[in-house]
Amino acid sequence: MARDVSYITTPIYYVNDKPHIGHAYTTTVCDVYARFMRFAGRDVFFLTGTDEHGVRIEKVASAQGITPQQLADDNAAEFQRVLPLLGSTNDDFIRTTEPRHTRQVQNLVQKLVDAGVVYLGEFEGWYDEGQEEYIPQNKAKELGYKSPVNHKPLVRAKESNYYFRLSAFQEKLEKLFDEQQDFVRPQARRNEVLGRLREGLADVPISRTNFTWGVPMPNDPKHVIYVWIDALMNYVTALGLGEPDSDAFAQRGKYWPPDYHVIGKEILWFHAVIWPAILMALDVPLPRCIYAHSFWIREGQKMSKSLGNFIDLPTIQKYVDAYGLDAWRYYMATQGPLGATDADFSDKHFHDIYTTDLVNTVGNCASRVAAMIGKYFDGAVPAETDGGSPRRIADHDWPAICQRTVAESRAAMDKLDLSGSIGAAVGLVRKIDAFINLTEPYKLAKDESRRDELGAILYQCCEALRIASLLLWAVMPERMEQLWTSMNQSIDPRAGKLQALTSWGGLQSGASIQKLALFPRMEKPSV
Ligand code: MSP
Repeated sequence: MARDVSYITTPIYYVNDKPHIGHAYTTTVCDVYARFMRFAGRDVFFLTGTDEHGVRIEKVASAQGITPQQLADDNAAEFQRVLPLLGSTNDDFIRTTEPRHTRQVQNLVQKLVDAGVVYLGEFEGWYDEGQEEYIPQNKAKELGYKSPVNHKPLVRAKESNYYFRLSAFQEKLEKLFDEQQDFVRPQARRNEVLGRLREGLADVPISRTNFTWGVPMPNDPKHVIYVWIDALMNYVTALGLGEPDSDAFAQRGKYWPPDYHVIGKEILWFHAVIWPAILMALDVPLPRCIYAHSFWIREGQKMSKSLGNFIDLPTIQKYVDAYGLDAWRYYMATQGPLGATDADFSDKHFHDIYTTDLVNTVGNCASRVAAMIGKYFDGAVPAETDGGSPRRIADHDWPAICQRTVAESRAAMDKLDLSGSIGAAVGLVRKIDAFINLTEPYKLAKDESRRDELGAILYQCCEALRIASLLLWAVMPERMEQLWTSMNQSIDPRAGKLQALTSWGGLQSGASIQKLALFPRMEKPSV
């Protein structure tokens, strides 16, 4: 069903790390969706932020001889600094150490206690210190009692903890997966979660007593709320759901539930099982979809700190400096691992995609069309019509072709199929090129008697290009705005008029067009 509000979130990023491609990727995916939907007229709220509590942060800070708060402040500031460099239009940035968040986490956890789904219990099990996670006995055995992530030995830990009665949600969760087939995407990830879910759910500890850097348990402050529970709640605290009397809730409550929680595949269990169970217990509607993307690898190899091959911020910056921010965003959005398999980031691939799609297709088409209008019509858009209706040339019904493309691009974006949505727009540009090759306006130009036909062809090319550019704005805002300027189009995407702007005939004949080099050719991979 069409909705007039949309909410999309990134995971909140750990402040023990510096921003890298993983963070840049999720942020860009969400940003492209948010921009597109705002342009399409939806009232969108796009949230990102930082995850600042937990023993890991406490340890890293103490190793650096600073307080956890200091570490969190420094790195949260770094994450915030980076967002505009990626072109992010997030509406808020939530930090889990902010009082607005911690107050609400306590309220929400108290509600869970009151509802009888959180209780005090005793637990002993295998604990992965790096991941701050208990590993079930059978899994621990399978793993040789070593962390699957850092391969350090699991430790035997015993605690008196508050527990979340996850086991009580077994049936409801299975029903959810059954009824809402798209609750977890892509399909392969859904099947994995469902498989694990069917093995049966045990209650999960949601408090710790072995460290202090976290949100204290309401009415029992020697317990600190487990960082994952605290972190997941950011999605609702940013909208004020934990304080229904607040201004935040009055203004933002309407955005819940989210269209998408966009996350990486390694944090799916928390989002697809524990989080919906918490929301069910709180009687809060569930997100429409948890979208778990795969990973970027580099030149065929897993990225890791030990290999030193992580695409970190300075590397991202080099690509942005060499190819432009829009080219970086285009590569992230169209070549990224939104599907069930990992995506390989390679220097050559980046260069090839830039050259094929942006230089040779979008950029070339724009300059070709503008050059011909410049040459044959003194830079003024010619008229298309023939007695009031668009001319049909070489059997091309351009209004219909464009309308179909807009619908396809929009429907794909709705499904968070970024490459499908953007691919539809680039496909339209390819059709324009093919149309030029077919109708050969440069030959027609020599025949004065066919001037009307020549004008109509160039009008159609220019108008279809304008429509394609509107669909490409969300991913490449800077360059598409330059294109609009060169076409004398004053368009404000914030006005949310994508649908109206994409109807055929928006381009006025007589408007002056300038030639521009939208995507300069780069000779060699230069990063
Ligand atoms: N703090 C948790 C999330 C809590 S959400 C309530 C966390 N933070 S993180 O900083 O470690 O990870 C942030 C995101 O980056 C994750 O979604 C993760 O999947 C993503 N990436 C990290 N490395 C990645 C790649 N190599 N490729 C793509 N994304 C990956 O987890």
